[in-house]
Amino acid sequence: MQQIEQDQQKEQEITQNEMPDLIINPYEVVNNSKKQIDYDKLIQSFGCQRIEQSHIERIQTLTQKPVHHYLRRGIFFSHRDLNQVLDAYEAGKGFYLYTGRGPSGDSMHVGHLMPFIFTKYLQEAFDVPVVIELSDDEKFFHKSETTLEEYQRYGYENAKDIIACGFDVNKTFIFLSSKYAGHMYHNICKFQHAITYSQLRGIFGLNESDNCGKVAYPAVQAAPSLSSSFKHIFGKDEVMCLVPQGIDQDPYFRMTRDVCYKLKVPKTGCIHSQFLPGLHGFGTKMGTTDPTSAIFLTDTPKQIEEKIKKHAMSGGGMTKKEHQEKGADLTVDVPYHYLRFFLEDDARLEEIRVQYGKGVMMTSEVKKELITVLTKIVTEHQQRRALVTDEMVEKFMELRPLSNYPPKKNN
Ligand code: TYM
Repeated sequence: MQQIEQDQQKEQEITQNEMPDLIINPYEVVNNSKKQIDYDKLIQSFGCQRIEQSHIERIQTLTQKPVHHYLRRGIFFSHRDLNQVLDAYEAGKGFYLYTGRGPSGDSMHVGHLMPFIFTKYLQEAFDVPVVIELSDDEKFFHKSETTLEEYQRYGYENAKDIIACGFDVNKTFIFLSSKYAGHMYHNICKFQHAITYSQLRGIFGLNESDNCGKVAYPAVQAAPSLSSSFKHIFGKDEVMCLVPQGIDQDPYFRMTRDVCYKLKVPKTGCIHSQFLPGLHGFGTKMGTTDPTSAIFLTDTPKQIEEKIKKHAMSGGGMTKKEHQEKGADLTVDVPYHYLRFFLEDDARLEEIRVQYGKGVMMTSEVKKELITVLTKIVTEHQQRRALVTDEMVEKFMELRPLSNYPPKKNN
């Protein structure tokens, strides 16, 4: 009991002031250090756990499949209660995956894609149900740039991008939170009852002039992590939940886990990815306000090429001579960093790391490699997305049982 309380207290202590150069929360990611975020320090600061080699080996053994390069390379680097989720799976009780997207526009960028690529890998590897929240309400409350109806429309558009990642319709349920909230309102109420305004203010930095929606919303992101929010899938069963997410979303789930403890339901498991920086450098972020900051899923091959050539921050030497003498500084080099995320071939990545680091390979060559990799990912994505119809979106959003729940006995 004492241990649980200590853990809980640790999770609540968001000691971000230990990292003055860094702000990470769902509404702001600011890295003033100009270098890659110190994720070891962040783990300490957030009170989560590092994904160890032992977790990776356990996942490989349980799934009998090669683990995703996001795990092999430490891109999904941290977790909360991953072992408990794997224990439930091993015991044949199964678990489900929950992730989401805040539809703030028609187009997503390659950073948004990462948790979905990873969730799809987990879905295939473990053969577990997936639920995906499109938080149109969150964006309406926080962005307020257009009407709720327009955020709903963005939600449907983003659903097509998510479906294009290859999710199996028989094993995946997608919902717009403004439309589905009624089905999980009992759980939303429980979360809203258990969280005080002052806690929310501490976690999300809200104040009196914020609209009430911002105060009400965190419970809407928390509720899908309880299986009783999806009676059409789980009936009355209590099933553990694992949430793949970018690390910026962790504050929502710290809050969620705190309340799970009060509600006496299993704590939500989390698995966090590193943040993909903007093209302009580690201290920058991707966004629609500056289209040159990111590769969008709607970009043409020409746009991808131009953005990477002109805007991707290089760690190479200022002159050819300097580069050949000193090599590239990989700690600030965006093209190499992007290759870590998107080039699957481990041997080739290692070759680039060594050759570029020594100054044998030039920035232009590394950029060319990245252009090839991202053009392939984005064009193939666009081809799959073009095949996603409105009817398919409706099917993913239909309330129905999923074919892989309950889990088969031999899981
Ligand atoms: P949103 O739309 O901001 O982002 C969607 C998902 O993408 C991740 N992400 C990134 N990951 C790596 N590098 C980046 N540059 C990058 N940018 C975004 C986010 O961490 C997120 O996982 N509130 C959420 C929507 C949501 C949700 C959830 C997310 C609702 N329920 C459950 C995760 C789990 C949001 O606005 O995400």
